[in-house]
Amino acid sequence: MAAGFLAVYLSVCLLLRCSASPEPNTDAFFVAEFFRRMGAPPLTKNDSSSDVCSWPGVSCECQCGKVTGLVASGVGLSGPIPETTIAKLSVLRVLDLSGNNITALSSDFSELCGSLASLDLSANNIAGSLPGNIGNFKLMESLDFSHNRFSGEIPREVGSLTNLRFLNLSSNFLEMSIPETFLGCVALVSIDLSNNKLGANLPVGFGSSFNNLTTMDLSGNRFAGKMPDLSNLPSLAFLNLSGNLFRDLSLEGLREALQVVDLSKNQFRRLISQVNRSFTSNSSSLIYLDMSMNELTGEFFLGLGDLRSLNHLNLAFNKFSSQEFVHIELPSALQYLNLSRTNLTGRIPSGISQMLNLKVLDLSQNHITGSIPELGSRSLRVIDFSQNNLTGEIPESLQETLPRIEKFNFSFNNLTYCAEKLPSAMLNSSFIGSQSDCPIAVYPDNVVSKGRKRLDLKLGFAIALSVFFSSAVLIFLALVCRRRTGPWTIKQLSYNEEQNVSGPFYFQTDSTTWVADVKIASSVPVVVFEKPLLNLTFTDLLNATSNFDRGTLLAEGKFGPVYRGFLPGGIHVAMKVLVHVASVTDEEAAQELERLGQIKHPNLVPLTGYCLAGEQRILIYDYMENGNLQNLLHDLPLGVQSTEDWTSDTWDQDNTCAQSITTDGLTTWRFRHKIALGAARALAFLHHGCFPMIVHRDVKASSIYLDSSMEPRLADFGLSSLVGFSTDGGNATFHGSAGYAPPEFSDPENASATMKSDVYAFGVVLFELLTRKKPTGDDEYSEDKVTNLVGWARALVRRNELARLIDPKIRETGASEKQMEEALRIAYLCTADLPSKRPSMQQIVGLLKDIEPVIGEQ
Ligand SMILES: *[C@@H]1O[C@H](CO)[C@@H](O)[C@H](O)[C@H]1NC(C)=O
Ligand SMILES: *[C@@H]1O[C@H](CO)[C@@H](O)[C@H](O)[C@H]1NC(C)=O
Ligand SMILES: *[C@@H]1O[C@H](CO)[C@@H](O)[C@H](O)[C@H]1NC(C)=O
Ligand SMILES: *[C@@H]1O[C@H](CO)[C@@H](O)[C@H](O)[C@H]1NC(C)=O
Ligand SMILES: *[C@@H]1O[C@H](CO)[C@@H](O)[C@H](O)[C@H]1NC(C)=O
Ligand SMILES: *[C@@H]1O[C@H](CO)[C@@H](O)[C@H](O)[C@H]1NC(C)=O
Ligand SMILES: *[C@@H]1O[C@H](CO)[C@@H](O)[C@H](O)[C@H]1NC(C)=O
Ligand SMILES: *[C@@H]1O[C@H](CO)[C@@H](O)[C@H](O)[C@H]1NC(C)=O
Ligand SMILES: *[C@@H]1O[C@H](CO)[C@@H](O)[C@H](O)[C@H]1NC(C)=O
Ligand SMILES: *[C@@H]1O[C@H](CO)[C@@H](O)[C@H](O)[C@H]1NC(C)=O
Ligand SMILES: *[C@@H]1O[C@H](CO)[C@@H](O)[C@H](O)[C@H]1NC(C)=O
Repeated sequence: MAAGFLAVYLSVCLLLRCSASPEPNTDAFFVAEFFRRMGAPPLTKNDSSSDVCSWPGVSCECQCGKVTGLVASGVGLSGPIPETTIAKLSVLRVLDLSGNNITALSSDFSELCGSLASLDLSANNIAGSLPGNIGNFKLMESLDFSHNRFSGEIPREVGSLTNLRFLNLSSNFLEMSIPETFLGCVALVSIDLSNNKLGANLPVGFGSSFNNLTTMDLSGNRFAGKMPDLSNLPSLAFLNLSGNLFRDLSLEGLREALQVVDLSKNQFRRLISQVNRSFTSNSSSLIYLDMSMNELTGEFFLGLGDLRSLNHLNLAFNKFSSQEFVHIELPSALQYLNLSRTNLTGRIPSGISQMLNLKVLDLSQNHITGSIPELGSRSLRVIDFSQNNLTGEIPESLQETLPRIEKFNFSFNNLTYCAEKLPSAMLNSSFIGSQSDCPIAVYPDNVVSKGRKRLDLKLGFAIALSVFFSSAVLIFLALVCRRRTGPWTIKQLSYNEEQNVSGPFYFQTDSTTWVADVKIASSVPVVVFEKPLLNLTFTDLLNATSNFDRGTLLAEGKFGPVYRGFLPGGIHVAMKVLVHVASVTDEEAAQELERLGQIKHPNLVPLTGYCLAGEQRILIYDYMENGNLQNLLHDLPLGVQSTEDWTSDTWDQDNTCAQSITTDGLTTWRFRHKIALGAARALAFLHHGCFPMIVHRDVKASSIYLDSSMEPRLADFGLSSLVGFSTDGGNATFHGSAGYAPPEFSDPENASATMKSDVYAFGVVLFELLTRKKPTGDDEYSEDKVTNLVGWARALVRRNELARLIDPKIRETGASEKQMEEALRIAYLCTADLPSKRPSMQQIVGLLKDIEPVIGEQ
């Protein structure tokens, strides 16, 4: 590089000096001389042309050798501009020497005053005061002295520049006040005096003098008193007064053209309500408003919501009176919202979840109460909720996004978060004062209260069923059988009247809010695989669930809420809403769902259909009448009174749906074996019978349902590509449920679901079936100081104390002890620490079939 420059330099030197040296006192000579004496490689081409007009950066109006423009930006010029060089270019109009290391102007510089219209000396190293003879440059239109070391006052003579349109004196050391003569620069379009040490009051009339002004930047100075009067600035679009000592706000006469207003870091102290009219009525093109760090009092102005183009709003750090957050209307297009320390009280308005462009949200240092709503925006980068009085859980969807967010802070609230979802490095600083508590998938309270009302109808099982209802899945056995056309039909009629409802629709459960962003409900089709002629729409789903009423909520799983209802034609279904949707297109989702709909096995809960309602994927499954294994094993009173209940005559008479339970009951080994074998067959089918094979990823007792004839059926397979948290990079794994995750998952490197992790989880279910102990936190083994079922059971199997493990209920029924012991050994194999030591699901099916109890053997 250096060598190249040198070569060029030398060749030009030869060219100029020796062979074709320009005639003295020509423009070519002055330019060549300028470059030579400023110590930079000249801008000549390396051909032998001596026509100055063909040199790079040089322009001439005619090819007569007279230079009208010289641009030498960032070419390494250094030192003072020498005498008798460029100042002698008699018709020079444009001079750009920015980005060099020029330290002073030449004393003959003012000779350019008769021609120069545009001078850019920005980003140099020029010190001293601005030249007083600047006033002689009558033709000057654009003057940029920014980023130098000019000091002293702005000379009075500047007022003579009546043609000046662009003035940039930013980032120098200019001081004192702006001279009154400045008002003479009537043609100004843009003034940038930012980052100097200018001070005192602005000259009276500053502002109203510049009819064509679009940009005014006085930021970072020491201006005080009244801010400029804007009423005569019809074209002003950009106003930055940030970082001064202004006190008096005068926003009367703000004009429509205004787009950017930065008044931050001053001492404005007027009642903000006076701002009201000024902003809301005529300034609809406002994009950016920053009034933070002032001393504004009173209440926020109303009608903020009318500022439709506003995308940046900062009112932080003022002295507002306390105000209910929900009463403040916010423009929905906002990308940046900063209401830190604005004396807000009450709850966060739910409208915030509809601000889909939000990138930065700062609500810190207020008195906000209640819980954090879901945030609909997918582009969040910064979130600060610190120092409020927020309570409850941080919404799961928000927690999922935190690892991708630049900065967040939830400290000093009373919030609950789920540490498992977050990288540990983030936890310490951002959740001070919060507690980690991973949510249970189900909210029993909600379900209980709904269930109890109906239970009054059925006094016969009140006791047994009240527990039943409180479980994850409502089992409406008796109700369904007897009252099939009861309350549901009535509800359907009442909702039919609202057929033409239009969205978007918002639905709320205890743990989440979900949105079906559809315009007209009846235009969104529901695909029902086996019954394509039904022509169902989203309206039918609304009707079937009384508009996704909480009363029809069956459970809230980790994928989202599950509702139940009857579709037209009497199809009894469970509808699972995937709240955390993966970013796949509708076509891809539909394709995947069509594939899942084709996967059929007697031991799988079949996908009946689906509906793509906006971004939501609603999956429709056959309704499983008899609940799931979790309910049957752990939630139902299998103890003292249960044997009678399940086999009692009353049950028998009332219940025509589930006969098999009466003969078998869950208290027999035979029935539990049937569940184990059914679930194993389902998994073996997913692993070895499907192409591409399917890893279930979430095998657990509550994924195994019992249909109307008490056949076990595995649910929730194949969802991994449809739910959000399984697709993006490091978070690609679905960590299973507590107690069911294999040891290899504790190392995040290995934590990807495989067939062998399904096998492990199946082993846990098998232990559960045999011991009727919960996978974690059961009292019994806690006495042995073991924290989970697997640890406890494996230790006892190893010590061959098998009898101790077996659920007394099935021990008492006299089932073959040997078979149960064998089943415990199978569960032991499945839960081997090393994945490679675990058998395949196909092998497990074989092992379980070998110990199948024969009917009558008990
Ligand atoms: C200029 O010099 C470079 C290398 O120094 C050479 O490649 C190029 O051809 C020369 N151009 C002219 C017009 O001579
Ligand atoms: C700029 O020029 C001055 C004096 O000519 C010199 O001391 C300084 O090092 C130069 N700075 C750069 C960045 O070239
Ligand atoms: C003034 O100059 C600075 C630095 O050179 C630049 O960042 C700024 O945008 C300019 N101001 C205007 C209004 O063009
Ligand atoms: C303002 O701009 C208009 C149109 O560009 C021009 O005709 C008028 O002379 C300008 N006003 C001043 C004071 O320069
Ligand atoms: C206003 O000026 C300050 C200081 O110069 C700067 O930090 C801020 O970004 C500017 N505001 C806008 C909207 O450009
Ligand atoms: C607001 O706009 C209306 C017309 O749109 C105009 O008559 C009125 O003067 C404007 N008000 C201000 C304060 O600029
Ligand atoms: C603010 O303006 C709205 C209408 O734009 C008006 O209803 C309200 O009373 C005003 N508030 C104050 C404090 O002036
Ligand atoms: C909100 O505004 C305040 C005051 O200007 C500032 O200190 C804070 O950093 C801002 N918050 C964010 C997230 O930008
Ligand atoms: C908050 O509002 C209350 C009453 O409106 C007021 O007394 C208090 O000073 C305000 N707090 C702050 C920090 O401005
Ligand atoms: C939070 O609530 C408590 C009790 O109501 C109150 O004492 C405290 O001042 C509140 N904190 C904030 C920051 O509002
Ligand atoms: C928040 O938690 C702190 C300590 O955990 C407790 O002292 C305070 O009463 C709680 N505040 C509310 C409003 O629950």
